[in-house]
This record gives sequence, C-alpha cells and structure tokens, in this order.
Amino acid sequence: MIEARGIHKKYGDLEVLKGVELSVAKGEVVSIVGASGAGKTTLLQILGTLERPDAGTVLINGREATSLGSKALSTFRNRHIGFVFQFHHLLPEFTALENVMMPGLIAGRSRTDCAERGRELLHRLNIAARSAHKPSQLSGGEQQRVAVARALFNAPDVVLADEPSGNLDSRHARELHALFFELRQELGQTFVIVTHNEELAHMADRMLTITDGRI
Ligand SMILES: Nc1ncnc2c1ncn2[C@@H]1O[C@H](COP(=O)(O)OP(=O)(O)OP(=O)(O)O)[C@@H](O)[C@H]1O
Ligand SMILES: [Mg+2]
Repeated sequence: MIEARGIHKKYGDLEVLKGVELSVAKGEVVSIVGASGAGKTTLLQILGTLERPDAGTVLINGREATSLGSKALSTFRNRHIGFVFQFHHLLPEFTALENVMMPGLIAGRSRTDCAERGRELLHRLNIAARSAHKPSQLSGGEQQRVAVARALFNAPDVVLADEPSGNLDSRHARELHALFFELRQELGQTFVIVTHNEELAHMADRMLTITDGRI
C-alpha cells in the first residue's frame, strides 16, 4: 500500500531523515515512535505528500506521488490519503457534518451525495447526534472522531495520523484507538500512526522506531 524508499530530508544543515525505508501492506496498522525531533512528523508529511523529500520515492498503492506536479498532487491527496492531526484542524465556521463532507465536495461530488455519506460516517462513529454542532460545541474526543470521519470520507488508501490522541484524556484516547482497529477490521483500512502513546504504539501490528534519521 505504501512503499517509501531512500527518503532523505534536510532542513538547512539539519539532516532529519537519512534514508528511510518503509513498506506498509493493505489493512496493516503501523505505529511510528521516536524521540521528539526525531523526524516522525516530517516522515508522515512526506508519506502524505504534504512535503517533498530531497531524495527518495513514495509509492501509494503503486502510484509514485513524488513525481506529480502540485495540482495533480492535491487531487491525488484528496482521493487517496486521509489525515488525522493532533489538533483535529476542523473548520470552526462549519458544522460537524459539513466538515466531514469537505473532502467529497473538494472531489466534486454533489452536496446531496456528500451529506448522505457524511451522515453515514457520523452515525458509524457514534456522533450522529452532534452533526449540526460546530467544532467549538464538541468535546475533544468528539472533534477527533469528526476528524476521523473526514479522513475516511473518500475511502482513502491510507489514513496517516500524527499524535491523534495526544490531546485527549485516557478514556477518550482508548476509545479512539479502539476505533482505528474496528475500522481496520470492518473496512480493511490501512493506518500509519505517529504516537507517543505507548499503549497505542504496542497495539499496532508493527511498531517502527526512528533513530538517527532511519527506521
Ligand atoms: N519546516 C522546518 N524547518 C526547519 N526545521 C524543521 C522544520 N520542520 C521540522 N524541523 C526540524 O526537524 C526536526 C524533526 O522535526 P519533526 O517535526 O519531524 O519531529 P518529530 O519527531 O515529529 O517530533 P515531536 O515528537 O516533537 O513531534 C526537528 O529538529 C525540527 O526542529
Ligand atoms: Mg511531530
């Protein structure tokens, strides 16, 4: 599902990634751990095509993302990759349902279709009752589930999550982690999750550690 080969990334003189090799199969849940500043977010952003590597290639479902131009790349990202960030990044002026629908609207699907799929996802994630609320009216755990619903909207090849539970109390963190594994079970969804949460890191099929710019 994801093949990353020889990924190098420097910021000025700082060599963050020094030849990362990573391969993730469909339906696999992989956790990435490592010290603060080790390059976890950098790697996730490169896998998600939000950042370009200085050298190396990223293949998502057999397609080489690293060679696409910026417009093709945003379309590619919208169709094939779902993101969940530590601070959900929901749009404050839109309701939960509208936030979830956003990737579908961007992909050019009709509002009616998107609303139907959005409602289905909110229902699946147990937040249907909160559909009409704006992010500021939702709890942290609810906001994070809305973010997961949004990430899943276009049935992406992979969901990339950066500290998804970093901002939640332990009960809500557990619920979110359980949800990832349910979605893998039900949909065969692939996940790459950067986390400091040891429980989540160990629940994954594989836990990969970044040290000295390599995995
Ligand atoms: N845009 C940037 N410009 C310059 N340096 C950067 C940039 N982004 C990240 N860095 C540096 O690269 C290194 C890796 O950063 P990264 O965010 O990938 O770490 P991380 O492993 O995610 O850490 P944390 O666990 O604290 O989130 C850090 O030393 C950081 O300061
Ligand atoms: Mg980080």
